[in-house]
Amino acid sequence: MAIQLGDTAPDFTATSTDGEIRFHEWLGSDWAVLFSHPKDFTPVCTTELGAVARLKPEFDKRGVKVLGLSVDGVTDHEGWSRDIEETQGVALNFPLLADKDRAVATAYGMLHPNADTTATVRSVFVIDDQKKVRLTLTYPASTGRNFDEILRVVDSLKLTSIHSVATPANWQHGDDVIIVAALDDEQARARFPDGWRAERPYLRFVPDPSKASRS
Ligand code: BEZ
Repeated sequence: MAIQLGDTAPDFTATSTDGEIRFHEWLGSDWAVLFSHPKDFTPVCTTELGAVARLKPEFDKRGVKVLGLSVDGVTDHEGWSRDIEETQGVALNFPLLADKDRAVATAYGMLHPNADTTATVRSVFVIDDQKKVRLTLTYPASTGRNFDEILRVVDSLKLTSIHSVATPANWQHGDDVIIVAALDDEQARARFPDGWRAERPYLRFVPDPSKASRS
């Protein structure tokens, strides 16, 4: 069965460009993003890995580890890394799993045989500090992902884990957020003593409670 939100992320041991990774041990008590690539030495993947390497400081700032996967071996990954650095202007600064036997890809449902019989699709899993899957995304090989969106979702997941709020469409850190429907007005007053802007009784906005804590 496909991995669903709230499931424990499957554990595995695999080789990577940074040596052997025992996944749960490697996660420790951090959040992580695990994302797959169809194949080494392919153009869209090359740009994606460059994009993630450039954004690595933003993932670090949020306490989120980054782990890529491609179904080729470490020797190929190392040759490809040199191409990534030369063409994208940034070196790979996170581990890339080698998954020649497709064990990890199979465990995570990254192979979609009706899309491609051998290569993985572009899967993304956001995993929290309890090793629970909090987001899954699946893109086809022909469409490169927007990794700013992954950061935006991480911001929303972390915020909504701590506060009784949800984030509206296209929300960005600092924008107003929505008081969850589970809180009636009396409960909301206890949590948000400065009040809220109600556009409907069920649509109550408050300022982003994390706004002051990050620049
Ligand atoms: C690419 O990364 O460009 C790619 C990989 C596999 C199939 C199609 C495109």
